[in-house]
Amino acid sequence: MAKQIKVAIAGVGNCTQALIEGIEYYRQNPDDTRGLMNVEIEGYKVTDILPVAAFDINADKVGKDLSEAIYAKPNMAYRYPEITVPKSGVTVVKAPTLDGYPEHFNEWFEVSREPDCDVAQVLKDSGAEMLLNFIPTESHAAARLFADAAIKDAKIGFVNGMPTLIVCDPEYQRIAVENGVPIIGDDVKSQLGGTAIHRALAVLMYNRGIHIDKTYQINYAGNTDFANLMARGKSKHKTKQEAVTSLIPYPLTMSTGFTHVPLMNDRKTSYFWFDAANFGNAPLHFEAKLEVEDSANFAGVIVDMVRYMRVALDRGTSGVLDSACSFLTKHPPVQIPDSVAVEHVREFAVGARER
Ligand SMILES: NC(=O)c1ccc[n+]([C@@H]2O[C@H](COP(=O)([O-])OP(=O)(O)OC[C@H]3O[C@@H](n4cnc5c(N)ncnc54)[C@H](O)[C@@H]3O)[C@@H](O)[C@H]2O)c1
Repeated sequence: MAKQIKVAIAGVGNCTQALIEGIEYYRQNPDDTRGLMNVEIEGYKVTDILPVAAFDINADKVGKDLSEAIYAKPNMAYRYPEITVPKSGVTVVKAPTLDGYPEHFNEWFEVSREPDCDVAQVLKDSGAEMLLNFIPTESHAAARLFADAAIKDAKIGFVNGMPTLIVCDPEYQRIAVENGVPIIGDDVKSQLGGTAIHRALAVLMYNRGIHIDKTYQINYAGNTDFANLMARGKSKHKTKQEAVTSLIPYPLTMSTGFTHVPLMNDRKTSYFWFDAANFGNAPLHFEAKLEVEDSANFAGVIVDMVRYMRVALDRGTSGVLDSACSFLTKHPPVQIPDSVAVEHVREFAVGARER
């Protein structure tokens, strides 16, 4: 039987809610494999993932068992019908806030008055094998604090789910190799999200000789991530745009937009628009729309990242896990088409590719 995969989580927001409740869904429905990219990765199932530590700053989350904290306001992720998450025995601890609480978060929650924990010490004491970073976009200082604690101090794996460039930073890459630590990032490319679809459409058009003049993508939802992206989404615009423009070998004009629509809660809409030309420069116009549960879409990718990370740890592989980064993140160190990246990650899983 496969061993448990011990993870620590930074940021008990909607994505963590979907991850914890989703794992419980598969535990309680062992014959249901719908919604999984991989049922097993080298013998590991999603139900082998075990949280052993959790960090947040929200007064309604800190001090609570993780199974309760995931339902504290302002979390609002999709509730899996009839799923109850049992007590985890993991108490959410207060992390240093740094830039994780911009002014516009005032209306959403209050910061805990508990003293800051020593993140690296908590990681070491918990026995976590990797840290999953799910804190808000643009919290660059806090993201680096978590990366330092995991990669430099505790010397455990690091998954960067948000758009601060950590895994793309040559200095973190060097230290990760030096400390024998695998890293995956930056910024999750959701299961079937705006980025995955926009890339597929752009590549389809390019391969069929369609010249793309301009394209945009607008995303809206009612969760805190979108409220935050409207106020400070600079790094997310970058990771989203580069994920598409990097695949097209001519300059492409692309815009991305985010809007907060409160009544949509965690349901995200992505709208895609292309102004293009086909044979003889004749005009071609394309529009499409996706509606999806935003945080579940994220969690479906994390369960694979965690298992690839564990496979790397089992094999003693350190540094950037290129294939997992290219297939599963928006801003990997190396951008390649998804059709190639999926083959690379499958080869990595069976040991035919080192990273
Ligand atoms: N589909 C998706 O939802 C998706 C896709 C790709 C990337 N992401 C990224 O994942 C991240 C998390 O998204 P979310 O929807 O869960 O956001 P969220 O706002 O629901 O959760 C973020 C959590 O981090 C906590 N936090 C803030 N500062 C902190 C600090 N210093 N230390 C520890 N915790 C802190 C907040 O209190 C909150 O609980 C975001 O950066 C987002 O851009 C999300």
